[in-house]
Formats: sequence, structure tokens, C-alpha cells
Amino acid sequence: MNRIPIILDGDPGHDDAMAWTLANASDELEILAVTSCCGNQTIEKTTYNTMRICTLLGLHVPTAKGRPRPLVSAPIIAPTVHGESGLDGPKLPEPDFELVPMTAIELMEKVIRESDEPVTLVPTGPLTNVAGLLLAHPELKSKIRQISLMGGGVQYGNWTPAAEFNILVDPEAAEIVFSSGIPIIMAGLDVTEKAMIFPEDFERIRAVGNPVAKVVAEWLEFFYQFHRSMGYEGAPVHDAVAVAALIHPEIMEMKDLYVEVETEGDFCKGATVADFRGVLGKAPNAKVIMGIDRKAFADLLVEAVKHYGEAEK
Ligand code: BDR
Ligand code: CA
Repeated sequence: MNRIPIILDGDPGHDDAMAWTLANASDELEILAVTSCCGNQTIEKTTYNTMRICTLLGLHVPTAKGRPRPLVSAPIIAPTVHGESGLDGPKLPEPDFELVPMTAIELMEKVIRESDEPVTLVPTGPLTNVAGLLLAHPELKSKIRQISLMGGGVQYGNWTPAAEFNILVDPEAAEIVFSSGIPIIMAGLDVTEKAMIFPEDFERIRAVGNPVAKVVAEWLEFFYQFHRSMGYEGAPVHDAVAVAALIHPEIMEMKDLYVEVETEGDFCKGATVADFRGVLGKAPNAKVIMGIDRKAFADLLVEAVKHYGEAEK
């Protein structure tokens, strides 16, 4: 079976970490590189977290540090959700490898150029690095098969009434990505708020008993604390939907829509505006995921952690 070549780009982040755990466990995906971006925390912290996650997962592929700030807008971080480290909770191993001496954009460029097949990008943070890549190397667009991203929401936001965090942090970057012409799969809040992992699922994951399973259960516990305080009954593992969409699209409902990003405005900066009624007469630029079989999604995470070995004695 030909595996789908992908690059993971994220701002870990508990749900980024779980997205990467899922991707690394999949026989259908081939991770060519990992890059960090700023978002949930500063680039220094998300890069350190990236390295600790890759070490935990035994994921040793070229890894690079992303741009230190969004393209235009001032940085926003999310310590209320992910803690001061950006990945508070369980103790993680210290990095056992070095970053490559390149920027994230340089690494993406190299990997895409050298790949025989078009590469799929999986950004689960603000789109700063991806937009930077497209600005610097527009000639590589034809070598990017698609972008399966977590970001936005065509009905509501989470950081403002209109905007989801990843898009709000770097709306100019998001605008560049959505208008790039590259096929987009959008795992926005419309689906990710339904991609809920419940406390009983945490226990199923913990019971797998290997070191990764135990850490994932604790990540879920930590991530749930914030969400419980907001009235959620579980932890919405947003970023893992962008990975799951590549390996199990059959558990999701997707709608082809034309989506634009609002980059300005007092109330709607960072909104992803979908033309549901075709008012603009433009061809769809995104497959917007609207629904998911929650139980099947939870089962995917449980199966993924089994990939990391037997239960510890
Ligand atoms: C997104 O924001 C971040 O806090 C999460 O990692 C996810 O990518 C959800 O809005
Ligand atoms: Ca993220």
C-alpha cells in the first residue's frame, strides 16, 4: 500500500500532540517532517514541546522550528487552555535529537521538492509557516496534494464569537492558504466540537497501559479540566480530526464550500465565512467537515495508542 506523504506542522498543544500520536501510529501515513509554529505558546515553547512529543513517540524525522510570530498580527497565546508550558500535565522525556539547521519553511521546501509524490500538509496551529512557504515558493503549489487543517468554523468561533483560535492568531496567513487554489480539508469547530473524547474513553486509553497511552490519558485529563470549566462533557480533540480526515474520511460528513477569511474588522477578524448559498458564484475551495461519528473517532485514538507497545508491568 502506498502511504500518504505528509508534513505535520503544529503548535503543541495537547490536541496537536494527540493528532501527531494518531498520525505516527497510522500505516496509511508517512510523516516526512515535523515543524513547529507559534500559537498556543511562544515558538520556543512549542518547539521544545514538539521535540519532547517526537521523543516520546519515537518519531525521528527532520524537525524544524517555525516563524517566531504571525505574518502581520500581534501574537496571541493560550495558556488558559494548554498551561504555561503549552503542554502542561504529564512529565515528558527530554528531547533525544537535534533540530535540523533550517527554518520550518526551508525544511518544508526541501521535503516537498525532493518528494516523488505530491505532499499533504497537516497544519494544526496558525497557518504562518504554510503561508510563508506559499509566499516564498509559489512554484511548489502543484507539489502540494492538499492541506488538511484544523482551523476556523463556518458557524461560530471559540476565541471570539466569530473566530476560531488558529485563524484569529494569523488571519493573513489563513487568507493566503484559503485563496491558494490548493485543495483544503477544513476541520473547523463545526466538526471538532463534536470530536469529543469522554472520561470513559480516557480510561480505555489508560488501560492500554504502555507509556504513550498513559501520557495520552493524562493529556486528555489536563485538556478536559479547562473544557469542563466551560461546560463541556469531554475534551474536544480538535487537531486529531485533521489527521483522521486523511485516514478515515468515511466517518465524517463533508461539504464542498467556498470559504473566505476575514482579516479585519472590530467583530469578525479571523472569521471563516462560507458561501452556503453560492451567492458569490465561486467554485468551492474547501471540503468543510461538518460531522463525525464520535464513537468511531474515539475508537481510532484507542487503537492508535496500542501501536506504542504492550502494557508496562
Ligand atoms: C485550536 O486552538 C488550539 O488551542 C488547539 O491546539 C487547536 O489547534 C482549537 O481552536
Ligand atoms: Ca493546535
